[in-house]
Amino acid sequence: MVKICCIGAGYVGGPTMAVIALKCPSIEVAVVDISVSRINAWNSDQLPIYEPGLDDVVKQCRGKNLFFSTEVEKHVSEADIVFVSVNTPTKTRGLGAGKAADLTYWESAARMIADVKGINFQILSNPEFLAEGTAIPDLFNPDRVLIGGRETPEGQKAIEALKDVYSHWVPEERILCTNLWSAELSKLAANAFLAQRISSVNAMSALCEATGADVTEVSYAVGKDTRIGPKFLNASVGFGGSCFQKDILNLVYICECNGLPEVAEYWKQVIKINDYQKSRFVNRIVSSMFNTVSNKKVAILGFAFKKDTGDTRETPAIDVCKGLLGDNARVSIYDPQVTEDQIQRDLTMNKFDWDHPLHLQPMSPTAVKQVSVVWDAYTATKDAHGVCILTEWDEFKTLDYQRIYDNMQKPAFIFDGRNIVNVDKLREIGFIVYSIGKPL
Ligand code: NAD
Ligand code: UGA
Repeated sequence: MVKICCIGAGYVGGPTMAVIALKCPSIEVAVVDISVSRINAWNSDQLPIYEPGLDDVVKQCRGKNLFFSTEVEKHVSEADIVFVSVNTPTKTRGLGAGKAADLTYWESAARMIADVKGINFQILSNPEFLAEGTAIPDLFNPDRVLIGGRETPEGQKAIEALKDVYSHWVPEERILCTNLWSAELSKLAANAFLAQRISSVNAMSALCEATGADVTEVSYAVGKDTRIGPKFLNASVGFGGSCFQKDILNLVYICECNGLPEVAEYWKQVIKINDYQKSRFVNRIVSSMFNTVSNKKVAILGFAFKKDTGDTRETPAIDVCKGLLGDNARVSIYDPQVTEDQIQRDLTMNKFDWDHPLHLQPMSPTAVKQVSVVWDAYTATKDAHGVCILTEWDEFKTLDYQRIYDNMQKPAFIFDGRNIVNVDKLREIGFIVYSIGKPL
């Protein structure tokens, strides 16, 4: 029986290994992590991450050919294939701070593997392309699997061994094999291209607001060109998530290190527009609410960086809330999947500190006083002057907006950062509605 061990039981390691176990009953998969609480959660009914369909997959394999453990060395020493799926955050200090990837966790995993297995192994690059919220369907039916390896006979043999795992369910023509650097750069490039589309449409949204065009109509018309395609053209309050910004900053750093400042500058602009979009959103809230939000209650609907996940890493909600708090607003937050602890932690943390291990441990933050976290949208919006929709959760589309309006201060403002509400209907009720890239 082939044995796989994955170091890192996070958003990638957990779901990916669960799917490998499900699709390859002949393979034994162990997922290991230094975080005891994370492993305990993987072994419980309350998995550490929210991902539609994940519970089902884990239930089918856990205890059969899928195991979660803190016995890192034991499982690494027994494995034929070791995956490393540890966090690779942006460096916060030292050389390349604010850009380069912090490889501390990766290196410590690599050194541990070398300690227990010796240095007789091949290294492959197998970047994962799943998106959170759709991880299970993405893993079941990937557009491609990418495997990079050395062009030596040993390297090619290792590529074949990993290919054999994926070919249990991924059609052969979707498994791409490249050299190591191509695989590594393809991952950064794919995320940079996706993020670039969002920054492009968000840049257009500012121009739409200035001219009276509607960004939804513009992106629909643009996306109808089959050369461009319709995906990743939704204007928003900005992109978030653990990888887009991190990977682009890393790309920028690599360009700079290779003497390519013009290329670095080009990609930097994608981040700049994203930051601009978030601050533009806050400015719009403050200016439309008579230039002051001081002591006004503002409801925040949605804190996760996108729907169907509880992940808040780099969520635009952090910047929007910090902006409003900076102007002394009282903020009342509701998200169906994010805990109060997590929100308080996010709002007290410094930029780029979010993926460093300190907060992989539970800690009690000094709560931000002007913030309350509540468990339904009606409580969040009661007596509020304004409502901001920051995550496109389906339930926000079907709220009883008449009830919300009746219980708010007047004039009642809605700022839709995801363009999910029916603007005409809300205006009929009496709301003042601001959407992204739409005429007032
Ligand atoms: P994560 O923070 O959710 O999980 C990483 C886990 O690794 C943590 O639980 C941590 O405790 C553990 N860890 C760190 N050092 C360790 C060590 N030495 N030994 C054992 N465990 C250790 O991170 P993630 O979101 O799963 O991302 C993992 C990697 O995958 C990153 O490089 C990321 O860039 C990449 N990636 C992420 C996504 C995504 O959607 N989140 C998608 C594709 C690729
Ligand atoms: C993204 C990529 O889509 C994955 O392929 C990749 O594996 C992953 O990053 C990674 O490397 O971590 P993810 O960040 O989980 O996945 O989610 P996306 O669906 O890409 O959304 C990212 C952000 O962009 C979210 O904040 C989302 O709301 C925003 N977005 C997305 C828009 O604002 N507009 C869009 O049209 C699409």
